[in-house]
Amino acid sequence: MTLTYSSYLQIPELLELQTVQSDPEEHDEMLFIVIHQTYELWFKLLLHELDHVKDTLSTGDLYGSIAIFQRCRTLMKTLVGQLDIIETMTPMSFTSFRDRLDTSSGFQSSQFREVEFVLGYKRPKMLEFLPNSAPGTARARQRLEERSVIDHFYDFLEHEQITIPAHLRERAPAEPATADEAIQDALYTLYQTRPDLAILFELMTDLDEGMQEWRYRHVKMVERTIGSKQGTGGSPGVEFLKRSLFMPVFPDLWAVRHRL
Ligand code: HEM
Repeated sequence: MTLTYSSYLQIPELLELQTVQSDPEEHDEMLFIVIHQTYELWFKLLLHELDHVKDTLSTGDLYGSIAIFQRCRTLMKTLVGQLDIIETMTPMSFTSFRDRLDTSSGFQSSQFREVEFVLGYKRPKMLEFLPNSAPGTARARQRLEERSVIDHFYDFLEHEQITIPAHLRERAPAEPATADEAIQDALYTLYQTRPDLAILFELMTDLDEGMQEWRYRHVKMVERTIGSKQGTGGSPGVEFLKRSLFMPVFPDLWAVRHRL
């Protein structure tokens, strides 16, 4: 059978997946569903790219890593930009169907948790909020135990003759990465002597900044939409979200900057 646009991309199936819960239908619920589904598709691609960059970093492939980080940080800009669309929904409009969401919340996005874990931002406690039976929960649990991009970045630095301190190498993969002065010294030297590597470091910083921007824009969007109400996922809402603001995923890339 000849493939068509529609059959190759499974468009009819895709367009069947937007089921509103409000009855009679509240106009903005469609926006709410489409935007979340779109995010999940982008998260899927982001994970696909980040898995690939682990390999390029570990094999010391500089240009391959640059290409992937370029794509990931551009993707992150899109994720941030898309929040403008959901911000066109007023608090009154959201209230009209919010009750229908029950306990569902972005809190339960297993792919978002995977993105955090792959990048090395590991908060094991967050797994408790994922529904046990959901298909993505097992994947998120597995990701927690896997080496993150930052560990693969250490492999990359070793290809550049940098010695990685044993305590960083030996830490359990489920533990978050922490800033380390020896890594910062190495980055400082490489920034001065290797403009090709500096391009990679800046792209990684872009991605990190993009993640922080997303958190900031999401919490402001949440604040203007629900104010101080509790989240549907059961957290205190805005106060909870504020706790992860300004937390870098590659802390050494930020800690070294005052020396440059
Ligand atoms: C009207 C729109 C939205 C509101 C009011 C809202 C509200 C919230 C609240 C209150 C939380 C805290 C957890 C909870 O108790 O529920 C949360 C978490 C979260 N939301 Fe949203 N959200 C909205 C749109 C979105 C969109 C479009 C996405 C895109 C994927 C998203 C992704 C997330 C994620 C990933 C978390 C977990 C963040 C973390 O654990 O650091 N949210 N949201």
